[in-house]
Amino acid sequence: MKKIGVFYWPKGGNVEYCAKMMVSKLGNFNTELYSLDSIKNLDLPYYDLVIVGGSTAGADIWQNADDNNLWFDFYARLEGAHLNGKPVAFFGLGDQVLYPDHFVDGMAIMKNEFDRIGAKIIGYWPTNGYDFTGSASLEGDKFIGLALDEDQQPELTGQRIEQWISQILKEAGF
Ligand SMILES: Cc1cc2nc3c(=O)[nH]c(=O)nc-3n(C[C@H](O)[C@H](O)[C@H](O)COP(=O)(O)O)c2cc1C
Repeated sequence: MKKIGVFYWPKGGNVEYCAKMMVSKLGNFNTELYSLDSIKNLDLPYYDLVIVGGSTAGADIWQNADDNNLWFDFYARLEGAHLNGKPVAFFGLGDQVLYPDHFVDGMAIMKNEFDRIGAKIIGYWPTNGYDFTGSASLEGDKFIGLALDEDQQPELTGQRIEQWISQILKEAGF
């Protein structure tokens, strides 16, 4: 059976809630869920599809390598890996009303890191239904992953996740 790995950070908030919702909607698949602090041996090539999720909490938090930001450690562990075109999909939590110029910026950082190691990025998502003025996570007229806004549009999260999952499964050849 094909294997899916879902990796997320931080714990205890919207990202974790959405990561768990994804896993529950992937019920028929062999899916493993890891918060970044629970990864022992990171072996991304083991999975047929990798899903990575996080939030945007401002440049300060992304750039400070403190105990609460395990992304740096995660990316350091990717060094030297090569995914050879393995499908990787991102989801990002943000708040389009409070941060309209930087909505879900964090996904852009993820994409840079995974581009470097030869991932095939899938799961691009249309911007219809969101109201924001800028995002580093846009390519053309699409987000580079699934944008979720639990602060302003929690009622849309479930259907967005469902739709996105069927999209990425198709794109990943499941
Ligand atoms: C200090 C701080 C800065 C934030 N900056 C942004 C931002 O630049 N862009 C954005 O879309 N959301 C931003 N947000 C909103 C969070 O990404 C959003 O609330 C998210 O759901 C939090 O996920 P969590 O509960 O898993 O931490 C910020 C939130 C905080 C507290």
